[in-house]
Amino acid sequence: MHRSLLAPPRLVAAGLFVAVVGACSGDAATPDVDKTLGLPAMERPEGWSEARAELGKKLFFDTRLSSNGAMSCSTCHLPDKGWTDGKQFSQKVSGAMNTRNSPTLFNVGYQKNAFYWDGRAPTMEKNVAAAWKGHMGGDPEAMAATLNGIPAYKAEFEAAFGGEATGDTIVDAFCAFVRSLQAGGTRYDQFRAGDQSALTAEEQAGLGLFQGKAGCVACHTPPLFTDMLYHNVGIGMDAAEPDVGANKPHPEAAIGSFKTPTLRAVAQSAPYFHDGSVATLEEAVGLMCKGGIANEHLDPILKAFAARTISAAEQKQIVAFLKALTPQQTFTAPKLP
Ligand code: HEC
Ligand code: HEC
Repeated sequence: MHRSLLAPPRLVAAGLFVAVVGACSGDAATPDVDKTLGLPAMERPEGWSEARAELGKKLFFDTRLSSNGAMSCSTCHLPDKGWTDGKQFSQKVSGAMNTRNSPTLFNVGYQKNAFYWDGRAPTMEKNVAAAWKGHMGGDPEAMAATLNGIPAYKAEFEAAFGGEATGDTIVDAFCAFVRSLQAGGTRYDQFRAGDQSALTAEEQAGLGLFQGKAGCVACHTPPLFTDMLYHNVGIGMDAAEPDVGANKPHPEAAIGSFKTPTLRAVAQSAPYFHDGSVATLEEAVGLMCKGGIANEHLDPILKAFAARTISAAEQKQIVAFLKALTPQQTFTAPKLP
């Protein structure tokens, strides 16, 4: 099997917002941004450790944690696809189809209190416990007993958590692993750290457009390339009953608005948008350059986009730049006990 690695968002989550703003005004130079990664320090909950992340990595790939023994988190979050699955929609163990595209798990550890495309889960733990049960048919008690019956797992839980596996420590281990996924150290980050040769002339032109005339930074704010806020860009709004998105859990958010996705590793995570309706990065960039798709709830920032034109050649430069946001780390799949 294949395996390769990055993380992103919520509605003005205080801690993160500060980091993003700091980054905005001169990111790589900001003291709280790690120069090599080009990312701010990630605040992790007390108890987070490499040992927990390593254990969670194994669990993430272990099909014994699904009701049919054939599915794992990695079924829908594949390392070589930027932790997405390359499909428009995935199928749950029950046979039912998901109605939203599998998002990247890169930099999800920076999100504070709004997980999923619509920010409905207040903590990563709640999100992951629901994902485990909902997608994979996770049965915490029975599966904890299974893991405790495997001596190597039992020993790893003892070492990482000071006790046997339980439903809660399994979820904590999954989250510890997700919090280890950072998409930094890209060629863009090397460029920001001072290596002018890290980006080609075309990519530099794309970066200039991205933060200048094309206005993308208004929402895809460096260094995480997301403002962690919800915006309606018009995707799926022509459906008879559009997905209202963040408006359901957060009534103050516009109808049809979704959390701004990170653009780190975006070249790996096709198809695009919350409904996976756009197949290629070129098309996705073209659509955003036009200011999204007109509808009555369209974000005000995008309405202003209609007034300017980004040529085909300029769009190509933006795409080239976005490809330079691909992390270079290679990911090695864990050996399961
Ligand atoms: C059958 C496919 C599938 C499986 C299996 C699956 N996920 Fe997901 N995951 C999704 C989809 C689809 C979403 C987005 C749902 C939404 O936003 O409404 C998602 C969202 C997430 C998010 C939120 C990301 C964000 O930006 O807020 C996290 C974290 C996550 N999954 C982790 C996991 C973990 C850990 C596992 C294993 C316990 C797992 N997933 C198993 C499909 C899957
Ligand atoms: C008003 C805020 C806003 C601005 C400005 C904006 N975007 Fe976005 N972008 C979003 C949101 C929100 C989504 C997800 C929408 C959805 O899925 O319904 C998105 C999605 C994308 C995606 C798909 C990513 C994925 O993982 O599915 C790409 C690529 C993208 N934007 C590129 C750009 C580019 C290039 C620009 C500048 C021309 C830009 N965006 C300007 C908010 C914005």
